Amino acid sequence: MNVSEAVDKRMSVRKFRPDPVSDETLRSLLADASRAPSGGNLQPWRVYVVNGDSMTRLREFLPTQPPMDAPEYDMYPKGMTEPYKSNVFRIGEMMYATIGVAREDKEARRAQFGQNNDFFGAPASIFMFLDRQMNQPQWSDAGMFLQTFMLLAVERGLGTCAQEYWSIRHKAISTFVGAPENEMLFCGVAIGHVDETAPINTLRSERMPLEQWTTFV
Ligand SMILES: Cc1cc2nc3c(=O)[nH]c(=O)nc-3n(C[C@H](O)[C@H](O)[C@H](O)COP(=O)(O)O)c2cc1C
Repeated sequence: MNVSEAVDKRMSVRKFRPDPVSDETLRSLLADASRAPSGGNLQPWRVYVVNGDSMTRLREFLPTQPPMDAPEYDMYPKGMTEPYKSNVFRIGEMMYATIGVAREDKEARRAQFGQNNDFFGAPASIFMFLDRQMNQPQWSDAGMFLQTFMLLAVERGLGTCAQEYWSIRHKAISTFVGAPENEMLFCGVAIGHVDETAPINTLRSERMPLEQWTTFV
């Protein structure tokens, strides 16, 4: 598989098969992903792996914790303008359409959103933290690490879903993984084998045409 194929094939997987992923696979994926660039080669990523038994324990631990923490960052900008607002709206509509959930069916929407809390059935996950001293450039570095990780996962036949969802349960996750106070949770990534039969995995997200976001000066 070449890079273009991996970029094209990567998608947010929202239903996984339960088949396990070995720690060895995750270790090698992470080591390879750490070839991602970072300003000054600072390598700001701090990653916690939850897999196998610890995933079982996390699934038992989460219901014992408050269902929601005040997030430490805004998932989207407050008062978000166009075209961003419509992009977010559109992907939501498209996603619920794949599973036949109508706009007014708040309960079914909540139930699907709640699947975040079960990692969409994934057997493995990683959590990306950043030291609180880091600034915007290092958050971007973390993003590059994550995309590299997700592309390498595709190459190894695995699917992923980045999950900022965990920013609303950051206390539970920080406690569970034992992250120190100076580390802030950015997001999780659910990892596993793609359930190819799941309607939700037929979602192919759109992108704005290049002319809308590129200026050749
Ligand atoms: C940092 C980050 C956090 C995300 N958080 C979530 C999340 O919590 N739950 C979810 O279902 N999708 C999440 N997504 C997936 C996005 O919705 C998805 O990337 C976008 O709609 C484009 O679709 P694609 O990944 O299939 O190309 C996240 C993506 C990124 C990059």
